[in-house]
Amino acid sequence: MSTDHASKDPELIEGRPDEHRPVSDWATDFDHTDPQWATNPFPIWEDLRASCPLSRTERFGGAWLPVTQELVSTIAYDTENYTSRAVVVSETRPGPDDLPAPIGLAPPITSDPPFHHMARRLLLPAFAPKKIEALTDSTIAICEELLDEIAHMDAPDAALHYSQHIPVRVIAHMLGFPASDADIFRHIIHVVIEEGVRSEADDEGRIAETLAIDAYFDAQIADHVANPRDDLTNFLLDARLDGQPLAHEHVRGTMLLLLVAGIDTTWSAIGAALWHLGQRPDHRHQLVEQPEIWPFAIEEFLRAYAPVTMGRLVAKDHVLHGQNLSEGDWVLLPFPAANRDPEFLADADQVVLDRPENRHSAFGLGIHRCIGSNLARMEMTVALQQWMARYPDFSLSDPGAVTWSAGQVRGPRSIPVHLSPTA
Ligand code: HEM
Repeated sequence: MSTDHASKDPELIEGRPDEHRPVSDWATDFDHTDPQWATNPFPIWEDLRASCPLSRTERFGGAWLPVTQELVSTIAYDTENYTSRAVVVSETRPGPDDLPAPIGLAPPITSDPPFHHMARRLLLPAFAPKKIEALTDSTIAICEELLDEIAHMDAPDAALHYSQHIPVRVIAHMLGFPASDADIFRHIIHVVIEEGVRSEADDEGRIAETLAIDAYFDAQIADHVANPRDDLTNFLLDARLDGQPLAHEHVRGTMLLLLVAGIDTTWSAIGAALWHLGQRPDHRHQLVEQPEIWPFAIEEFLRAYAPVTMGRLVAKDHVLHGQNLSEGDWVLLPFPAANRDPEFLADADQVVLDRPENRHSAFGLGIHRCIGSNLARMEMTVALQQWMARYPDFSLSDPGAVTWSAGQVRGPRSIPVHLSPTA
């Protein structure tokens, strides 16, 4: 499918660790930071589904890659054999003393049962449908402002000038952080997701990054203690677990999680949908002519271009799909690959905007299923509808110049566009 292809120039992959050698055999030596995976992972997963649905690499100290819906789902639901103590696959694993037990680095995503249940439950009210609905008007205003700015640009970029700013501003507003700190948030995300620094703080530079991130959150917490207001940070400071305030590490870790989980993911999802629409005039026309299909289209973009692959550590030696998995092995959980499994869904490799049945796994499966799904859907809907209302005839100006993020959150990081048809 032509829309699945973009630049394969490794120079254009953001966040790729320099030291990784190229992959030549995905069945025995996979690496999700490889440029092939970043730019066009779909054929890789298709080949593996046929030849080796649970593949192994010795990179990252040993890791497994399931690519069928069945295997991804089996692992996601199994909290006995897999732990979420670390969810970003990197060169090193956290030791038993590296993370505050039972909280983990960023609760609830890094917490296991039974603590996970409590850490998750206390967050749910902040993301309930009514709370999110109340943010719709301010999100529309953010998009309008960005679109006004883009209208005057010589070289507009749908990722750099639009999709990346929307979730940053929305989550900063929710947490009560200064909007002017947007560059700091993006740096934190780059460090946490693309460099995996938090799970491998093994040299001076990385330790310094970790301390700087902690210091940023500590300053925000201190400010909210001194000047309480109605936002997510004070919500966490006021929350109680078993009648007690949350531990400082818990508050800080959850703030980090919300920032990381809320920005890169949604930026990627909005960007991938715009990247698709910029190449598909038929789909743009369909959305203009049949606005009632928008809710289906949002689900289809989420399914087809699901941005998030999670990681797990094997908690106990066990056998899966005839393979011996050992305690401490990494497992990648590519929800995007599960979504494209033709055994699970007809025409899984096609983007069908009005697909009536769409049980996708973009938001995960099992106990860690995304808490922010209402928020993400609202942001995507507003961002795409506002863009299409303003620029229904936009197109990619240079498909080969599109860049993609490397690693576990996949999305376009630069999408040069023409806003209206070229002569
Ligand atoms: C399109 C955008 C998004 C996608 C595709 C996405 C995807 C995911 C996935 C796949 C998981 C499961 C993790 C696992 O199994 O380990 C997850 C968990 C989570 N997400 Fe999202 N997410 C998105 C947006 C957001 C937003 C906007 C927020 C909030 C600001 C958020 C907050 C969370 C939290 C707190 C968890 C952890 C839940 C738990 O461990 O119980 N996400 N997300």
